[in-house]
Amino acid sequence: MARPSENALLQATGISKSFNGVPAVASVDLDLGIGESVGVIGPNGAGKSTLIGLLVGSHRADAGTLTLDGRDVTSTAEHKRVRAGIARAAQIPQTFGRLTVADNLRLPAVFGAKLHGADVRHWVDEVLELCGLAAQAHVEAQHLGLLSRKRLELAKALATRPSVLLLDEVAAGLTEPEIEQIMALVRSLREGRAILWVEHIPFALRGVCERLVVMDKGAKILDGPFEKVWADPELQAIYMGVPDDALA
Ligand SMILES: Nc1ncnc2c1ncn2[C@@H]1O[C@H](COP(=O)(O)OP(=O)(O)O)[C@@H](O)[C@H]1O
Ligand SMILES: [Mg+2]
Repeated sequence: MARPSENALLQATGISKSFNGVPAVASVDLDLGIGESVGVIGPNGAGKSTLIGLLVGSHRADAGTLTLDGRDVTSTAEHKRVRAGIARAAQIPQTFGRLTVADNLRLPAVFGAKLHGADVRHWVDEVLELCGLAAQAHVEAQHLGLLSRKRLELAKALATRPSVLLLDEVAAGLTEPEIEQIMALVRSLREGRAILWVEHIPFALRGVCERLVVMDKGAKILDGPFEKVWADPELQAIYMGVPDDALA
């Protein structure tokens, strides 16, 4: 299920990372195009978060290359990749608890989106609005509930004005109606961006992503149209032993 790569915005080729000699991501090829939303599933420890770390630059690749818009960013530091348009909403939210929601967004607006003066305030207001956080703008992040913390993690990534948005379990732990709110938010962010969304919640990915990638033991084993991958016997084999209702 190779994919055409001429129009890829982000393109990883043979990207690999080991920890203490144990491969976490093993020679993964992945391309992402503008307007594309790609879901990623795979068991715990499959290498999904490590892959996202390799794309955003918090992990250095041991091997392989990464290009953004045709430019080699394999060795580019994370803060520079963020300025170039790659942003991640992390699995473990990395907010400043004692700062307000708005102040948490000012940092990426200044350092990621490179805005100044009044533009910062306007953009932060827009992101607050887009992410459903306007009413909590002046609340300290440490006082937010889980849904709002998840929204804030996503908002922080969005505030950098990314062309590639990497989402790592932004809906984990939420109730079904809350997940639907996150789905609506992610859907609203699709236009003009490439989105890679790692999540263990199939209905959320199905509702937003037209393409699905499956990882297992550090390797990308399937990649293609959502329903085609979903029906693939290899996927079912990976999840054998997992109750059906966890996949429904
Ligand atoms: N910083 C790290 N140091 C050592 N091992 C790590 C680190 N991050 C991830 N790993 C290991 O790499 C493998 C893949 O982890 P991860 O990418 O977090 O998987 P996933 O997100 O799919 O659950 C696991 O075996 C994990 O223990
Ligand atoms: Mg993970």
